[in-house]
Amino acid sequence: MVASVQKARIIVDKAFRIAEVDKRIYGSFIEHLGRAVYGGIYEQGHPTSDKNGFRSDVKELIQELGVPIIRYPGGNFVSGYNWEDGVGPVEERPRRLELAWRTVEPNWVGTNEFTAWAREIGSDVMMAVNLGTRGVDDARNLIEYCNHPGGSYWSDLRRKHGYEQPHRIKTWCLGNEMDGPWQIGQKTPQEYGRIAYETAKAMRLVDPDIELVSCGSSSTGMPTFPEWEAVTLDHTYDVADFVSLHQYYGNRDNDTANYLARSMDMDHFIHTVISTCDYIKAKKRSKKTMYLSFDEWNVWYHSNDADSKIDPWSIAPPQLEDHYNFEDALLVGSMLITFLKHADRVKMACMAQLVNVIAPIMTENGGRVWKQTIYYPYLHASRFGRGVSLKPIVDSPVYDAKDYTDVPYVDSAVVYDEENESLTIFAVNRHLEEDIELTCDVRSFEGYKVAEHIVLHSDDLKAVNTADHEAVKPQSNGDSSLNDGYVETMLSKASWNVIRLTKA
Ligand code: AHR
Repeated sequence: MVASVQKARIIVDKAFRIAEVDKRIYGSFIEHLGRAVYGGIYEQGHPTSDKNGFRSDVKELIQELGVPIIRYPGGNFVSGYNWEDGVGPVEERPRRLELAWRTVEPNWVGTNEFTAWAREIGSDVMMAVNLGTRGVDDARNLIEYCNHPGGSYWSDLRRKHGYEQPHRIKTWCLGNEMDGPWQIGQKTPQEYGRIAYETAKAMRLVDPDIELVSCGSSSTGMPTFPEWEAVTLDHTYDVADFVSLHQYYGNRDNDTANYLARSMDMDHFIHTVISTCDYIKAKKRSKKTMYLSFDEWNVWYHSNDADSKIDPWSIAPPQLEDHYNFEDALLVGSMLITFLKHADRVKMACMAQLVNVIAPIMTENGGRVWKQTIYYPYLHASRFGRGVSLKPIVDSPVYDAKDYTDVPYVDSAVVYDEENESLTIFAVNRHLEEDIELTCDVRSFEGYKVAEHIVLHSDDLKAVNTADHEAVKPQSNGDSSLNDGYVETMLSKASWNVIRLTKA
């Protein structure tokens, strides 16, 4: 008997538009945590460091990724941070006990250095204000320092510190994960809603052109989710533009089929937050639509044991250094696909984080820089996922996993770049044993041809990259052809695929 081949079909049409992709869904995050800043983006004396101490080898990879916005300075760190510690002459800056991660913060890098670095590499800054130990006063001073041109105490202090021009930071987070018991200055939803509203009001009085992110739940697992969103947005709906979502996944019980289905949880999370926002919109009879900022997302679990063994109170210990394997790259691909499917509401997202700390880019102190497995789906989505997200009608065989039923083996999103006349089909084959024959109806794209089919695959789901050996890297060896308006292709078992069509 001949075994039958698994088959899937996708219909793509120019008319099935979800929304223009906001490039800021390819954002990332640098926190004063572990070796993200010190030993990551910044290392005085490193052979590639520039005159300000920022590593050029790291800059190059971030630029290759094309990261449009970077969240800073935390994360949990921000809830105990005095931003004034990080400005002015470096030799006068205090060393502080950093309570979120129990390290010593030397303040060698602060608001000015970070913002100048980000702008140099072509990224905007998403700045978070401290609503843990501080509040309205601190936030209004910080925004005056950053964005006011001059002629006032804080703006003139910035000029005195060598930054004549205002930073003009547009996007601001009103605190971080304020529902979490681990957060310094944790708040009830009522407390957070009030302080966030008053802080937003004051910040907008200083600079009316900013956009603000109201803190959502720290994850779907929080007992107060989604009531937190409902209560806090009741306060902040009129002053905020976005609500934040955070989520990390791990394959702790080594059940890969279940693990690869976790993006369905993310999809459900997004749906629930959209519904909650729209409920508040209806309650307030508001015309305004609240957008979603998924400003922390990734895989995070590999480093948990190692972190529990790190002694407190050192500068830049190797915290949260997950070494990602191939299956993590597949899930990251599906998470990116999930954002594209929600391009109408998810307008910002930050892979957490960018360098060394749960990151696509790793460094050696004083040495090399290298790319983790998850670097590649992030690179491909950022590079080819700009344009209009189209809704693919996917007909795929499904499976049941421990926590999910009817999981499609083929997960897909499609982006149409009208200006450059190119169409990109992103597809993950979640099947761990079988290749899947995929037919994709693209008849509305007349005159197109297959330009490239990039595949990320490894026979070893646990394969990792290191500074010495890149075990997982993309190949342009996908087998795709376009015949009479149909792309015919084979998706290798357990693979990330980027099928690019361009006008012939
Ligand atoms: O990204 C690591 C941490 O995860 C962040 O500091 C915090 O916001 C989240 O819990």
